[in-house]
Amino acid sequence: MIDTSHVLIRHVTEADLLALEWEGEYRKYRRIYRRAMEDARRGRRILFVAEIGGEIVGQIFVQLSHYRSNQEHISSTGYLQSFRIKPPFRNHGIGSRLIYQAEKALKERGFKRAIIAVAQHNHDARRLYERHGYSIFREDPGEWSFIDDQGLPQHISEPAYLMEKQL
Ligand SMILES: CC(C)(COP(=O)(O)OP(=O)(O)OC[C@H]1O[C@@H](n2cnc3c(N)ncnc32)[C@H](O)[C@@H]1OP(=O)(O)O)[C@@H](O)C(=O)NCCC(=O)NCCS
Repeated sequence: MIDTSHVLIRHVTEADLLALEWEGEYRKYRRIYRRAMEDARRGRRILFVAEIGGEIVGQIFVQLSHYRSNQEHISSTGYLQSFRIKPPFRNHGIGSRLIYQAEKALKERGFKRAIIAVAQHNHDARRLYERHGYSIFREDPGEWSFIDDQGLPQHISEPAYLMEKQL
C-alpha cells in the first residue's frame, strides 16, 4: 500500500539529477536534465519533483521561454514538460498536484496560458489534462532530437496533440 499522505512537492536541486534518471530508465536524458537545471538557474525553467519519504517519485518541468504560434510572439505562455510519475505511485493524485504547482508558479509570474504536448496514443494523460481544463488546439508532428548520455544523437518521432489552458 502506497502512503501518499506525505508527498512533498519541491524544486529540483543539483543533488537530484541522478535520481531523475530512475535507476537508469531515463539515463539517456542526462544531458537534457543538466540543461534543464542550467535553465532553472537562469530563470528560464522551473523544475518540480514529488518526493515521498526521501524518494523522488515524479517530476514536472515548466519552460518559461517564448512560444511562437502563427508567427505571433506569445511571451506569456508556459510549457509543461517531462511530466511523469513512477508507476507504483500513479493514480494517487500526485500528478495532479504537480500540475497544480506548475500552474501556480506560472500564475505567480504573470503567465496567462499553459500548454502541454501529449502523444496522440496517450489517452490516459490526455483525459487527465482535459479534467484539468486543457483542450487540444493543434496537432504536432512530435519530431525532435537529442544527444544521449553516450554522446550519440537520438531522434524521436511521436505525433502529439498540443493542449492549452488559460490560467
Ligand atoms: C500522466 C501521469 C504523469 C499522471 O500522473 P498521476 O499521478 O497518475 O495522475 P493523478 O493520480 O493525478 O491522476 C490520474 C488518475 O487518478 C485519479 N486520481 C486523482 N487523484 C486520486 C486519488 N487521490 N486517489 C485515486 N485516484 C486519483 C484521477 O482522477 C485520474 O483518473 P483518470 O485515469 O480517470 O484520468 C502518469 O500517469 C505518468 O507518469 N504516465 C506515464 C508518463 C506520461 O504519460 N507522462 C505524460 C506525458 S504528456
